[in-house]
Amino acid sequence: MLELLPAPPADPLWDLTAEYGADPRPERLNLVLGVYRDRSGVTPVMEAVRDAEIRLAERSASKEYRGLSGNTAFNRAMQATVLGDEALVARSTAVQTVAGTGALRLLADLVRQTRPGTTVWVSDPAYVNHRPILEAAGLAVRPYRWTDPDGLLADLALAGRDDVVLIQGCCHNPTGVDPTREQWEALAALAARAGWVPFVDLAYHGLGDGLEADLWAVRMLAERLPELLVAVSCSKNFGLYADRTGCAIVLGSSPSALRHVETALQNAARTLYSMPPEHGAAIVATILQDPALRASWRSELDGMRSRIAANRATLVAALEALGHGAAAAPLARQKGMFAGLPLGPAQMAALRRDHAVYGTASGRINIAGLPADRVPQLARGIVAVLEPVGV
Ligand SMILES: Cc1ncc(COP(=O)(O)O)c(C=O)c1O
Repeated sequence: MLELLPAPPADPLWDLTAEYGADPRPERLNLVLGVYRDRSGVTPVMEAVRDAEIRLAERSASKEYRGLSGNTAFNRAMQATVLGDEALVARSTAVQTVAGTGALRLLADLVRQTRPGTTVWVSDPAYVNHRPILEAAGLAVRPYRWTDPDGLLADLALAGRDDVVLIQGCCHNPTGVDPTREQWEALAALAARAGWVPFVDLAYHGLGDGLEADLWAVRMLAERLPELLVAVSCSKNFGLYADRTGCAIVLGSSPSALRHVETALQNAARTLYSMPPEHGAAIVATILQDPALRASWRSELDGMRSRIAANRATLVAALEALGHGAAAAPLARQKGMFAGLPLGPAQMAALRRDHAVYGTASGRINIAGLPADRVPQLARGIVAVLEPVGV
């Protein structure tokens, strides 16, 4: 049987990570995956997370199965944190998921159950796993332009009443380019007129302009539109990457519109993994329910955000000092963990080969994983591939 298996496509990000692991050069620099690293290059366990884990270990709760929606205290705390308003929470339902990816997949399943022939619009460029997740759920996918605001509105003007538009709520991966508030409002008006449903992917809130500012767009959409799907990840802003913690939130026009939603999401999870793991959700619930732990988390998150912004500013300044202010200008406006370099696949390969700097072929680097003392190496590498010798 197994010899009949066709060669599957490899995951480009994990392939690059393996290539990095096999690179013997001591100066190699891994900026491939979206993972925060502190000054010493470590992805820390946040203090609030460690404190919550100690409390949970002392309490030593039973590990008996939880319900099909996962940890309900976590779900309630996530609804309140993301939506920020009781009236919106009252129009919503949520289930715990296996991180942001699990939320994307369960919500994609919900879309297919509700509107089997629907088209889901996905940004171009997109997070590398968006299209595969939607297609695995049996949905048709169509791209819309992302970094050109006129193109974005022109493409989404073609989205129909039964369509769904997957859109990242902040800190767009891979470009770091987000709409302005006016552009978000234009998108909300378009959705209200045409009737399509936004499907917001929130993976980086708190790491762009601050938690409330990063949640502004999803809250505005929730206020103005009757229906909204939201996939939330706790991987980055709680540093819970490996604990696979997230949440699928659905808003309807009224509580009765939601009556079958939770069961539909539970049923989708039942055939994939039955129910989500408890540990990360228990940590997040403990933090969000305790004012002191919550304040500690918020302040550490703010510190992470400031460090990312400082990394970006240092890189921009280094490129300007090397005479590449024009290439640096768009970087200065980008938000979140990633920087989209003005480099194509061949230049990114040269950066890897000649300067031991690993980013993705699309020009994305993880600016949150950049040690400050390596900025000169990165800036010199970028300039060298922008100005090949002999040109
Ligand atoms: C835009 C976006 N959405 C969702 C995810 C999924 O994250 P996770 O499943 O690790 O929570 C990521 C991870 O990098 C992402 O960048």
